[in-house]
Amino acid sequence: MASKGELGLVFGAQWGDEGKGRIVDCLSKYDVYARFAGGDNAGHTVTVGNEIFKLHLTPSAITRPHSVVLIGRGVVVNPKTLVEEINGLRERGIDINPSGYLLDGKSRLITKAELLEDALWEASGGTFIGTTLRGIGPTYSLKMLRRGPVIDMIAGEHFDEISLRKHFEDRIPILKTLAQNRNVHRALETLQDDIQKDPDNQSKQRAFDFLTAAVSFQPINIDAEIDALAEYGRFLYQYVGNTIYRAHHDYDKGKRLLAEGAQGTLIDIDYGTYPYVTSSHTGLAGFLESFGFAPETVERRLAVTKAFQTRVGSGPFPTELHDDTARHLRGTGENPWDEYGTTTRRARRVGWLDGVLLQYALEVNGATEIALTKIDVLGGLDKVGICTGYVKEGKVIAKLNRIDGDELSGLNPENLIIEYLDGWPEMDRKNLSWETLHPNAQKYVNRVEEIAAYPVTMISYSPEREGIIFRK
Ligand code: IMP
Repeated sequence: MASKGELGLVFGAQWGDEGKGRIVDCLSKYDVYARFAGGDNAGHTVTVGNEIFKLHLTPSAITRPHSVVLIGRGVVVNPKTLVEEINGLRERGIDINPSGYLLDGKSRLITKAELLEDALWEASGGTFIGTTLRGIGPTYSLKMLRRGPVIDMIAGEHFDEISLRKHFEDRIPILKTLAQNRNVHRALETLQDDIQKDPDNQSKQRAFDFLTAAVSFQPINIDAEIDALAEYGRFLYQYVGNTIYRAHHDYDKGKRLLAEGAQGTLIDIDYGTYPYVTSSHTGLAGFLESFGFAPETVERRLAVTKAFQTRVGSGPFPTELHDDTARHLRGTGENPWDEYGTTTRRARRVGWLDGVLLQYALEVNGATEIALTKIDVLGGLDKVGICTGYVKEGKVIAKLNRIDGDELSGLNPENLIIEYLDGWPEMDRKNLSWETLHPNAQKYVNRVEEIAAYPVTMISYSPEREGIIFRK
């Protein structure tokens, strides 16, 4: 029997935005890169020389010549975003051809109806998740209902106008019902006030536009949507195929495949801080589900964590900070690495690295190693904190097991045990090695390793492709 290839997984160990894209970009030995879940709620930033690429759906490795990239059937796809992304990459000289770029025909299509529905659920009261308003939740829920369109309907052999038209006709009464909720009108008023005060706030403007459309007499112009989908379909047709077949075929032929996670374990639909989560499996489970490999074949499972903690959207965040340290960690927004969302530009919430949650994320995905990103951002602080335990009902919790996942939903420890280590000066973001890393930064990395009980094999200290230390 022919020898098989190699399989690796890169996943987020926090609430997303860990820097997975830049880590994948450094793992250049793989032949095939596979995105398996989420949609354009994700934003991966990759810096190559003076160029910054912000990607939402295409695996980050696209900037490396000769890589094959796959967008698997667990992904939910807004075709507009994808077409714009491919065109944008081409304009910047990236070669995208169908032999190396494959989108699964069974991946779910996000239409205008799901975008409006996302905004309506957010506005209609109950739990405000703070979603990215990319239609992610409604699209996955339609998949579980065994309804809703797939990419093949617009970019398969035949454009399936009948099913698409029916989709919109079915959704419009549901949108209209949701729009009648009086909270929606209140949300519109509040958004209008907020936009007047802060006219540059794109995410509020987006919510306002969607809600305005949703409450109108005719929320969707079906003909216009069908025409747009037909055009996207004509463009995407050449890239559509069966990614499961392609992944297994390549693997069986001895190729090396890297699965690229989007979002992070703590916003996983089942393992995260439910209900403040996204609607997919963000780690190992999502990859297995989307590509149908057996768990034991995934030899390398690399957890990516920032050297501190960030979160966008609502939900528990035990180590969150609001003081000068928070301002230091978040930055002003002037640098590309400052903590403002790639997809929404929202300021991220920030805090110390949470060792309890890190261990949990590693266990849930059966990690084999850790990549620690943004260690440079901690430079310039007198003391650097790391949370090693929670105190709840008088007891110290230093570890949450997989089975304790439910604890995450009501994560409100009365007290935190924060260990403070000596800081180090601002770092020169050039040519660092483990030996030249400041001794206090070395101590910090070693302490993370001890708490996590897994080796830190990669340390990223700048957004540049070269700004990474590989450790044995
Ligand atoms: P949704 O995925 O847009 O439905 O949003 C659900 C929650 O996940 C919200 O709190 C979002 O802010 C968060 N979220 C979704 N995608 C990302 C991501 O790529 N990075 C960080 N947070 C995300």
